[in-house]
Amino acid sequence: MTLYRAAVVDTPGDPFAGEPADALAADQDGGVLVRAGIILARGPFGSLHAEYPDEPVTELSGGMLLPGFVDTHVHYPQIRAIGGLGMPLLDWLERCALPEESRLADPAYADVVAREFLDGLLACGTTTALVFGSHFAPAVDVLFTEAEARGLNVTAGLVLSDRILREDLLCTPERALAESRDLIERWHGKGRLRYAVTPRFSLSASEEILAVCMELVQDVPGGRDDIWFTSHLNENLAEVAAVADLFPGSDHYLGTYHQHGLVNDRSVFAHNVHASDKELALMGEAGAWAAHCPTSNSALGSGLFPLRRHVEHGVSVALGSDVGAGTGLFLPKEGLQAYFMQQLLGGEGLPLTPVHLLYLATRAGALALGLADRVGDFTPGKDFDAVWLRPADGSTYAVNLAHAADTTDALARTFALATPADVAGVWVRGQQVGPEKALT
Ligand code: GUN
Ligand code: ZN
Repeated sequence: MTLYRAAVVDTPGDPFAGEPADALAADQDGGVLVRAGIILARGPFGSLHAEYPDEPVTELSGGMLLPGFVDTHVHYPQIRAIGGLGMPLLDWLERCALPEESRLADPAYADVVAREFLDGLLACGTTTALVFGSHFAPAVDVLFTEAEARGLNVTAGLVLSDRILREDLLCTPERALAESRDLIERWHGKGRLRYAVTPRFSLSASEEILAVCMELVQDVPGGRDDIWFTSHLNENLAEVAAVADLFPGSDHYLGTYHQHGLVNDRSVFAHNVHASDKELALMGEAGAWAAHCPTSNSALGSGLFPLRRHVEHGVSVALGSDVGAGTGLFLPKEGLQAYFMQQLLGGEGLPLTPVHLLYLATRAGALALGLADRVGDFTPGKDFDAVWLRPADGSTYAVNLAHAADTTDALARTFALATPADVAGVWVRGQQVGPEKALT
């Protein structure tokens, strides 16, 4: 057993459901007792130490210990394609993202990219992610293999497109079915890995391939009902118009997925910037999730996410980095950008507190992925997945933490100032996996 001593901060409650402060749990001199990767107890260090005086103590002094971050939308093949500024979505896809995605046809190339991607996630404190895979099955194998080796909680799948995309990224509905089934058989439910059926977006998906997606989600051999579904939705106005032309029989963009039974509480839709009330009502009824990707929406000029309307329609929201359109893997940066965007919406925005930001970066994602019984906060019984943010002595972040009035204020300063350089420790199921910094 190990007793970690730190400023322990998490959000076991839901700040969108009541008073944000009630969703927070914080012990400035806190303890988390971990046995075999599982949290056994959590509370003030003094009382835990008195109860377990013989257990070794790991001092994590300075900064704060948070649950490992949960990224609900990130593209593994795009880790080398960050920073393509100055283009709207469809141009960016054609010029930046898709040429790089084609290179993953080579499994040796994919292997290096998978390592860069997963090591990048861990270095940023992300321990759970819903990952957009590759269009190439061997590259998805590589992703799962490397994720398993690192102990990460990864839900991912083969990306499916059968029209209006680069020729080399297309597949037939028949091949989509066979290759996805094979990947599901081999990876779904293996350790911390799970499968997500992943059409790229309706713009590049025919009715036939969406029907295959329904088959994959519903008819999993063995009757498993925990296959996830993810895709893009209502990101950009030109994209929304193109989808409307391609699916004249659908009421709206969400309808292209809904008519194939793909909108339910195991569905995570990235973006949803240009959602209609009808779509939000449908998502709310179905329990489908939106993955809000603030730096991506800003970089591509996609728009300002209507968070208030999502909440009013009962649609739950988590955060995604959307790398490579997003500007990095560090979830607190997404939290800060989400806050900025709600400020910029003025009266239409939903003012976010620091407690909301932590919830969006941790527990909300765990709920979106159906993993909240395992990760997302430090409740006893859950896996010890954690990130220790500790600023360098004398840094502006350190100065601000030293002058924080309370934990909520310290959290605000963390979202404002923390960077990946402040990640001083990351644990997955109790194993420290990075970075190689000495514990103090
Ligand atoms: N829509 C379809 N593919 C993509 C992608 O790779 N990134 C983003 N941001 N939107 C998409
Ligand atoms: Zn995306």
